[in-house]
Amino acid sequence: MFKGFKLDIKNALSFVEEGEYTEYLKKAEEARTALVRGEGPGRELTGWVDLPHITDREQLDRIMSLADKVRKDSEVLIVIGIGGSSLGSRAAISFLSGTADDGHRTKGGGPRILFAGNDLSGTSAKAIAESIGDADFSLAVISKSGTTLEPALSFRVFKKLLEDRYGKDDAAKRIYCITEDNDKALHRKALKEGYHLLYVPKEIGGRYSVLSPAGLFPVAVAGGDIEELIKGAEEERINCLDLDPDKDPALMYAALRQLLYHKGRKLEMFSSFEPCIMCLGEWWKQLYGESEGKGGKGIFPVTAMLSRDLHSIGQYIQDGERILFETILGVENTASDMVIPETEDDFDGNEYLAGKLYSDINRTARQATIAAHVKGDVPCMEIILEDQTEHTLGRLIYFYEFACGISGYIQGINPFDQPGVDEYKKNIYERLRDI
Ligand code: PA5
Repeated sequence: MFKGFKLDIKNALSFVEEGEYTEYLKKAEEARTALVRGEGPGRELTGWVDLPHITDREQLDRIMSLADKVRKDSEVLIVIGIGGSSLGSRAAISFLSGTADDGHRTKGGGPRILFAGNDLSGTSAKAIAESIGDADFSLAVISKSGTTLEPALSFRVFKKLLEDRYGKDDAAKRIYCITEDNDKALHRKALKEGYHLLYVPKEIGGRYSVLSPAGLFPVAVAGGDIEELIKGAEEERINCLDLDPDKDPALMYAALRQLLYHKGRKLEMFSSFEPCIMCLGEWWKQLYGESEGKGGKGIFPVTAMLSRDLHSIGQYIQDGERILFETILGVENTASDMVIPETEDDFDGNEYLAGKLYSDINRTARQATIAAHVKGDVPCMEIILEDQTEHTLGRLIYFYEFACGISGYIQGINPFDQPGVDEYKKNIYERLRDI
């Protein structure tokens, strides 16, 4: 039995030559050396590499004690943030709670966690505000730069709601600000008003920040065991640094995806038959899309929730233009399960499945789908998670971050900046001055 997760590449390896793969593994090993020694592009933003190793008891205790306060005095926590400042915690909470939807209570009956500030929609802001109702609530405003438009506007809206409800002084005690220790608007405001403050290290960019307070605080409020999350990540960090390239999942994954890209596979599809993994797919999409889409190149990351999307883009995957490869995630020991009930009359013809577990049906469906896609000329990698615990999640998160750094370096770009994002922002800001 494996520990944490295992990566199975046999159904992708069959699409490449052995020599090519060895060549790309060598590139991956060189990339690893550059990343770990801080010798590659964007080295000033590689603080996440050692983060699980240097996160200490004192830091975790502070996050947990602030989270405990929210768990005691609030029924709802509004998490305000966009991109890397919210996708990670949302993914973790969804994964741990076993559901794809926001607002479900997680372990120990903690507050409902609602995510705001990742759009410019008044309809959405109003719906979130209304869904709070009379419940006691707190705000976590997360923005590394402290200047991003969407969370800034959302913070105005929910801060006002909070102040109207509790008064300015008591409201300030319900605001948790997670930002960089800088001289920007949000940090200055937090210091001035006495909000609770947690810092995202300067050397860690948004999309690599899930294991910093940006991700850990909401997860802790939701009842997640952040100590186990960090322990899992640290275990994976050691693997990523030490294993032989042909045994290191991060290097194997990075090498293969870049090789498949080189051979014309322009899109990678992250898919799973577990809905609670799909928020992780959104996090993965940002991590890889923002890190690698540069200089007219890069694998385009897409997600598919199965089996739902087999009834929509399934046709394209099986039979459309051959530009795809797929990474499909499954869970070996799911957090919970259900038995398919018997019927008296077998009205739907599915009685042969009565008494079977959903997890067995799920596994069979995954394997059958992989076989069909491979037959349809889609290279497939498979990642099987041991279980749905924080420890396994920590390992998976670190694996994906490390592999992203390696993959970006093989591609020859800086995987830690996002120059393209600034262009649309500039346009929006210019036009907003005129409305
Ligand atoms: O990965 C990134 O750097 C971005 O996606 C940011 O996380 C996102 O733009 C939000 O930025 P900020 O946290 O500064 O508000």
